[in-house]
Amino acid sequence: MDGNGRWAAARGRPRSYGHKAGVEAVRRTVKAAADLGVEYLTLFAFSSENWSRPREEVRDLFGLMKFFVTRDLAELCANGVRIRVLGDRSGLSSDILGLIETAETKSRQNTALQLNIAFNYGARNELRRAFAAVAKRCAEEGRDPSQIGEDEIAAALDTAGQPDPDLVIRTSGEMRLSNFMLWQAAYAEFVFLPCMWPDFDKEWLQRAISEFSSRTRRYGGIDAAKDVAL
Ligand code: IPE
Ligand code: MG
Repeated sequence: MDGNGRWAAARGRPRSYGHKAGVEAVRRTVKAAADLGVEYLTLFAFSSENWSRPREEVRDLFGLMKFFVTRDLAELCANGVRIRVLGDRSGLSSDILGLIETAETKSRQNTALQLNIAFNYGARNELRRAFAAVAKRCAEEGRDPSQIGEDEIAAALDTAGQPDPDLVIRTSGEMRLSNFMLWQAAYAEFVFLPCMWPDFDKEWLQRAISEFSSRTRRYGGIDAAKDVAL
């Protein structure tokens, strides 16, 4: 979710105004994704690198995360949304940790849409935590580290048990991954949209999905249907 600040600046308003509007885009997008039959949706809300922003902006972003979870949890649950928060929890305060745990526990039985909120998330940090966990288990069980499998690493990531993303959408025209799902997005399709996040809606999501549908995914192989004998 990128472009909140630029969206606000274009309107002569402070960045916080853009972040607030961004929360409304989150609500629209979760609903739109469920309507369109998306089964897994991950929103990158706060990266481990966002701590470098001014203190007031970090405070605003944390405030909005709390606001969203508090205000929307009951409705999300009523709509069958299951919540998981991805990211490093070790640096988070107890009030936000409590909210995260409540959201995950209360929505645990839901099955309509899996909503991941990446918060205090960075893929390198996630990989480091996963490797540390796998290495620890390996040492405890006296196993040969060269036998560690890709599945074992995947199962130690914050996305454990979930499929890899098919589609990664980045708004605001930036064309970077910015430390998002470096492991999981190995074969994802990427769609970069010129829309600022606060303007994102069902139409933009549909546009991204239709672009995704037009791609041919080969996973390193060849396209058998189009492979003509030479
Ligand atoms: C939202 O957009 C992304 C968050 C970290 C919440 P930005 O805050 O990055 O907006 P721009 O890139 O400055 O426009
Ligand atoms: Mg940005």
